Amino acid sequence: MSRQWIAILDYGSQYTQLIARRIREMEVYSEIIPWNTTADELRKRMPAGIILSGGPNSVFEKDAPTIDTEIFKLQVPVLGICYGMQLLSYTMGGRVVPGTEREYGKMPIEILPGNPLFNDIPSTITVWMSHGDRVEAIPASFTRGALSATCPFAAMFDNEQRFYALQFHPEVVHTQYGTQILRNFVLGICKCVQDWKLTSWADDTIARLKAQIGDDEVVLGLSGGVDSSVVAVLLNRAIGKRLHCIFVDNGLLRYQEAEQVAQMFRDNLGLDLTVVHAAQRFYDALKGLENPEDKRKAIGRLFIDVFAEEARRFSHCRYLAQGTIYPDVIESRSPRKGPSQTIKSHHNVGGLPEDLKFELVEPLRELFKDEVRGVGRHLGLADALLDRQPFPGPGLGVRIVGEVTEEKVRLLQQADIRVQEEIRKLPDYKNIWQTFAVLLPVKSVGVMGDQRTYEYTCVIRSVNSLDAMTADWTRLPYDVMARMSNRIINEVRGINRVVYDISSKPPATIEWE
Ligand code: XMP
Repeated sequence: MSRQWIAILDYGSQYTQLIARRIREMEVYSEIIPWNTTADELRKRMPAGIILSGGPNSVFEKDAPTIDTEIFKLQVPVLGICYGMQLLSYTMGGRVVPGTEREYGKMPIEILPGNPLFNDIPSTITVWMSHGDRVEAIPASFTRGALSATCPFAAMFDNEQRFYALQFHPEVVHTQYGTQILRNFVLGICKCVQDWKLTSWADDTIARLKAQIGDDEVVLGLSGGVDSSVVAVLLNRAIGKRLHCIFVDNGLLRYQEAEQVAQMFRDNLGLDLTVVHAAQRFYDALKGLENPEDKRKAIGRLFIDVFAEEARRFSHCRYLAQGTIYPDVIESRSPRKGPSQTIKSHHNVGGLPEDLKFELVEPLRELFKDEVRGVGRHLGLADALLDRQPFPGPGLGVRIVGEVTEEKVRLLQQADIRVQEEIRKLPDYKNIWQTFAVLLPVKSVGVMGDQRTYEYTCVIRSVNSLDAMTADWTRLPYDVMARMSNRIINEVRGINRVVYDISSKPPATIEWE
């Protein structure tokens, strides 16, 4: 596809994805590519501009990521951000010095004239710094673009070659006029056309899927979540009844969720949907298991088995569709991704048995989550579905601490539906990442009427987060907590105590198991 794009060389900053999102928000397509992409590779699909992202390394480290310097001869504008600036400086003859400590946080800078990156921006702004090393002398062809009290070169530029660099992060909301700076680069300097529109993306993708799949058939594991739902609708538009959806009811879903998914996709959207009722098999597999990882693995394994059994009925299909989205793609190849410890084993439909040889169709591979929602909205999916909070694959299985039984699932479903109903009444519901109930294997004494009770404890967990990597507990208004607690204790027989979880991630995780 020959659309205009901005290439972002990824040096591993936690903000790299944000750069791509900011650019796409200005309706220009941008893609994150590995830092070791060569000039020859770029030439095959020439970008309109190149951004070097920030990163955790120091240019002085032995194995620090570098750049193919032939890229500087492509005659394409380049913007280095943070590590990107140090790299530009280092490779072009400037002087970078190791920092003794990291400069981190908001910092006022003074902007000097002559740099088109700062067009329409006041001469003093506050920016977000996060760096160790810093540039002490800029390369000969460059001019100083900004300075701060502690950073002599907060920005530098070479208008002749169209090379620009910032020591701070324009992609972060704490940087004033950050979006304007990126706009000046992308629209002003690179002269990109704003042609990245989700509506046309959806239409193009449907046409592409039609062409790719031809007369073949596709199986899709539908989870009821946003991503697989949008994939289902795209494919439904592309190939109609030749799409076969499989939904596994593992008995660990929210209250009436299986029925709702069936109604929505089968009745409203007319999809060919098979609901596999496998609850009892999951309860049997979970019998006696108390350890969270044992439970997760049992659920994951059985899910694959159940899905595979069903998918065999469709083994005449050539393709298996999946709701892989862009962050999944980047994360699986990020330079940050080392042999990191498994905190919890997540699962998806990877790991299907050998005899099931499907080719993968992953139409959302280039979209961010909010873009997936945008496409869903364009395709007419209900807001209630698109604005759903994340729900873990192992479902209520990881929200019932200790052994899972059918009785506990029913109890938790009843508590959780009340939490959901109350939280949805909040005006800023959409800003809360997740709110749910957890059931503890702890019984305590209470009194109901004149009767002594001895029943379970329910936890309410609500967190704010941007990406689930870190999370802070939500400061829910007391009256909301009071309503949730009153309703659960009065209406759900079997729970006589409700507590609120005030732990952040890290060190706690969002789910309890
Ligand atoms: P934790 O509990 O690790 O969760 O802080 C981070 C986010 O991931 C969700 N989560 C899962 N999602 N399969 C999923 O698809 C899983 O096994 C799983 N475990 C946790 C969790 O709800 C939170 O949003």
